[in-house]
Amino acid sequence: MRTTPLASILILTAAVSAPIVPFAIHAQSRPPEVARIEIPESIRHEHDEIHSTLVEATKASGGVGTAARALAKVLDPHFVREEQIALPPLGLLAPLSAGTVVTEAVKSEALKMTDALRRELPRMLEEHQTIRKAVEGLRQAAVAENAQRYQQLAEQLAHHAQTEEEVLYPTAVLVGDLLRARPAAR
Ligand SMILES: [Fe+2]
Ligand SMILES: [Fe+2]
Repeated sequence: MRTTPLASILILTAAVSAPIVPFAIHAQSRPPEVARIEIPESIRHEHDEIHSTLVEATKASGGVGTAARALAKVLDPHFVREEQIALPPLGLLAPLSAGTVVTEAVKSEALKMTDALRRELPRMLEEHQTIRKAVEGLRQAAVAENAQRYQQLAEQLAHHAQTEEEVLYPTAVLVGDLLRARPAAR
């Protein structure tokens, strides 16, 4: 008897799907684990974009260049510390909300970050005040020189700091609280 095209497809589909079953059982018995703590891509991209535009502005002549260099002096160390302790714990939000297992090593590393953030939060918020003044200096210089690109940078930075204060820093602290409340896998 000849095999119809439909029968051929069904046979092929059965053959291809057969090895998937044990994999599915395996996947159910061992849920995926978080192996590393990484800053979410969206936030890393925003930091990188702000940083590269600011570096460009520091090379400008006139008031914009002067204001941008003053801003970079206070912003650079702040960004570095944020990327060490405030932003990486946010990379655990999506896996935690999906029920992904966090190993003891990842939990321990994340708690060091969130504990440091809780301790250093008052200083980081003070830094935001200093940064805001420098951002306003850049904005005024950009307006005076009709440099729209750097005026936009100043507005983006002001918005970025506000988002951190209202959403990102508190959420990173709460990631620590959540990790302490949940049992970790070995
Ligand atoms: Fe930031
Ligand atoms: Fe910040």
